[in-house]
Amino acid sequence: MATHPQLEIAPSILAADFAALGEAVRSVERTGVRLIHVDVMDGHFVPNISIGVPVVASLRKATRLDLDVHLMIESPERYIGAFAQAGANWITVHQEATAHLNRAIAQIREQGCRAGGAINPGTPVSTLGEVLQDVDLVLVMSVNPGFGGQSFWPGAERKIAELRELRMRGGLKFLIEVDGGITAETIAPVVRSGADILVAGTSVFHKQDPAAAVQELQRLAGEALLQRA
Ligand code: DX5
Ligand code: ZN
Repeated sequence: MATHPQLEIAPSILAADFAALGEAVRSVERTGVRLIHVDVMDGHFVPNISIGVPVVASLRKATRLDLDVHLMIESPERYIGAFAQAGANWITVHQEATAHLNRAIAQIREQGCRAGGAINPGTPVSTLGEVLQDVDLVLVMSVNPGFGGQSFWPGAERKIAELRELRMRGGLKFLIEVDGGITAETIAPVVRSGADILVAGTSVFHKQDPAAAVQELQRLAGEALLQRA
């Protein structure tokens, strides 16, 4: 069982063996996670290439968990329909990757998916100001996107706190997701700052027992939640 209904650990399959993704997803299902984070990279928006639409379609057949698709691609509106058709439940686009963020978010919603807006470490929260009422999720990057296994950027905590404040003041409902460098060592302050969904790749799938690693993160997150102001 997940530690707390308010908190989600979202295992990122970027850190799993791409030749055995079905097995990787199944290995964490019994922990009660509800989301599998899927990183899509195009070699333009980020300096790396990962997976695309056919892999999301295969994952859809392999699990009933929600697929949380993080598009690190230029002009994501070109592919939103394809990822939705492939079975994505959540689709997140980067503020920096499109001149038409509002349109991209509307497209995601029209496809029946939940919509997220993401910001890189160098991008202020204020750049999402006009879409906060339209998104289901704000994704705060705590590394510069492109690679797993990087060190957590602590500036993310201030942004999460700022988003939490904006959500409260505006009576808004979006969830706050944080992505990059989340480990047993870094998770507590991130939870205390107000994150709802914690993406974890390396700290789950590079461990011998991914389910045990998720459960440990759930436990630590639950403890930190009790200390949240
Ligand atoms: C990074 C990706 C992350 C990545 C996180 O560009 O968006 O989702 O999988 O990996 P870890 O948890 O290893 O930092
Ligand atoms: Zn991601």
